[in-house]
Amino acid sequence: MPVLEVDVAGLTLRNPTMLASGVLGTSAPMLVRVYRGGAGAVVTKSIGLKPRAGFPNPTIAEVEGGYINAMGLPNPGAREFAKEIKAVKKAGVTIIASVYGFTPDEFAKTATILEEAGSDAIELNLSCPHVEKTGAEIGSQPDVVSKVIKTVKGVTKVPVFAKIGTSYPNIPELARVIEKSGADGITAINTVKAIAIDVDTKRPILANVYGGLSGPVIKPIALRCVYEAYESVSIPIIGVGGVRSWQDAVQFILAGASAVQIGTAIAKRGLGIFKEIVTGLERYLEDQGLKSLREIVGLAHGE
Ligand code: DHB
Repeated sequence: MPVLEVDVAGLTLRNPTMLASGVLGTSAPMLVRVYRGGAGAVVTKSIGLKPRAGFPNPTIAEVEGGYINAMGLPNPGAREFAKEIKAVKKAGVTIIASVYGFTPDEFAKTATILEEAGSDAIELNLSCPHVEKTGAEIGSQPDVVSKVIKTVKGVTKVPVFAKIGTSYPNIPELARVIEKSGADGITAINTVKAIAIDVDTKRPILANVYGGLSGPVIKPIALRCVYEAYESVSIPIIGVGGVRSWQDAVQFILAGASAVQIGTAIAKRGLGIFKEIVTGLERYLEDQGLKSLREIVGLAHGE
C-alpha cells in the first residue's frame, strides 16, 4: 500500500486530509467525530481572545456551486475554548487551532492559550473576508501580516500556518513575506468575499450583506493561489477551496499542496468524504506505481 502519511512542517498527519476551519469545528464531540470519520487532522472554528456573539441571521445562503456565509466569527473566547481542545486531545486527535485577532498581541495571546491547551499547530486566520478590522483587512497588508506572524512565532513552539485569501492580489509577494516572517506553512485559500441577493425582497440575503464564498465554485482560484505560492516559497502549503473528490485533492497536490482541507463538501457528502478521498488517493498512487504521496507534490510545475 502506498504511504499516505505526510509531514507538514514537522506535523505528522496519518493522511493528507484535514477538516477546514468552519462551523463543524466549534465543539469537542464534533471535532472528534470528524477525526474518527477519517480526517488526518481537524482545524477548529477561528477562536479569538474574547467571547464574540457573531452576526444575526441569516448567516448562510446557498448559491450555484457553493455557499456564502457570514457567521461573524462567533466563539466562546480562548480560555473557554481551551476546554474543548483538551477534550479533543484526550481522544488522541491531531488538532490545529484556528486563531483570529484584532492586533498582533491578541493573535499571540490566543495562540498561547490554545497551544497550552494541547493544539498540535496554529493556523492564523489572516483572511476572513467580511469581519471588520481582522482577517482579510490584515491579510491585505503584508507589513501587518509580518508583524502578526513574528509576534505569534515569538511565543509559540508548535508549527504556525498563515491562512491567506485573495484580498492581497500578489500571492507570490505575500507568500514570500509570510515565509520570511517565520511562518512554518501557508494555508490557501479562505472563502472569497461575495454577496447573494433575493429577487423577492430585492435585498441582500445575509444580515451582514457580505459573506465568504466557499465550495467548488472557488476551486480554480484556490488552485491558482496554491500554484503561485508553491513557485514562490519552500515552506509547505495546505490547499483548501472546493475539494470534494480524490481528483480535486490530487489537483491541489500537483499544484504544490502537501495536504488538503475539506469543509463545504461535508454538507453534501457527509463525513464519509474523508475515507472516500483517502481511498481514492491510495488507488491513484498504486495505479501510478508510486510509493508515497510526497512524490507527486508540485509535479504540475515540471521538473
Ligand atoms: C467566517 C469566517 C471566515 O474566515 C470565513 O472564511 C467565513 C466565515 C465567519 O465567522 O463569519
